[in-house]
Amino acid sequence: MSVITPGLRIILAKHLAVICADKRQKIRAAALAAQYQCPCRAQFAPEDEIGLLVHADYLSLQQNLPQAGEVLVDFVSGKLAHRRLYGGGKKQPLARALGLHKKPHSHIFDATGGWGRDAWVLACLGATVTLSEQQALLVTLLEDGLARAKQDNDTQAIAERLCVLQGNSIENLATEQWALDAIYLDPMYPKRQKSAAVKKDMQLLQALYADNNQLEQNNQQLLLSALQYPCQRVVVKRPLQAPFLAEKQPQTQIKSKNTRYDVYFCA
Ligand SMILES: C[S@@+](CC[C@H](N)C(=O)[O-])C[C@H]1O[C@@H](n2cnc3c(N)ncnc32)[C@H](O)[C@@H]1O
Repeated sequence: MSVITPGLRIILAKHLAVICADKRQKIRAAALAAQYQCPCRAQFAPEDEIGLLVHADYLSLQQNLPQAGEVLVDFVSGKLAHRRLYGGGKKQPLARALGLHKKPHSHIFDATGGWGRDAWVLACLGATVTLSEQQALLVTLLEDGLARAKQDNDTQAIAERLCVLQGNSIENLATEQWALDAIYLDPMYPKRQKSAAVKKDMQLLQALYADNNQLEQNNQQLLLSALQYPCQRVVVKRPLQAPFLAEKQPQTQIKSKNTRYDVYFCA
């Protein structure tokens, strides 16, 4: 099926169903099914490939596969709470790459929002983050997670610094005029052969895309658009051994165990 959004056509690679996991959420589930033009049911049917699960107090995505777990956006508890409380602060590679050790209240545009984890870490460190994500389903989950974070005393102030937009970041960068300090890209990598090695959240992301063919072109265009935008730096997250995106050599790199941040300083 396809979901039409202004100026953007997203193909959902898999058959989607809204699964009403809590009977009291029937109205919300029906509204989501109407938004995504898909069936709404109490449990998976054999033909469903991905479910948007509506629980009493959160939404999640799940593939209709044995052993597949749910993925949700949870800014309040779990791994992100641990990172908020005990993470590496402004010295961690992501923060240094984006210059937060020098300017903690930077305005950062996260052009590849995904599950919002990197954006949340940056907001925890004091940055204002405008996150843009083109997959409508992820935006639905991000908005759900952000709404819960705004209701929690420990995360409310951080959540107020995070703004979620649905859209293609290439188009956003061409049309918007934000006063940005930095642009952050964490592009999807082409599918690996050993899918068992890929975490369930990344498997879900890969399942949402019809094919990989346009990924590299999209990623390169994202970098070129970011480099044209008036801001101080552009940072690209890459696997340690990956070639430079669009063959553009960065001015500096910050490395961690498995990841490299390529930093491009703009004029
Ligand atoms: C690897 S994930 C990012 C994960 C994210 N950094 C996090 O911490 O959760 C890449 C995301 O970028 C999104 N994306 C790719 N190209 C995009 C574009 N042109 N505009 C907006 N979002 C895009 C994909 O839909 C995907 O969700």
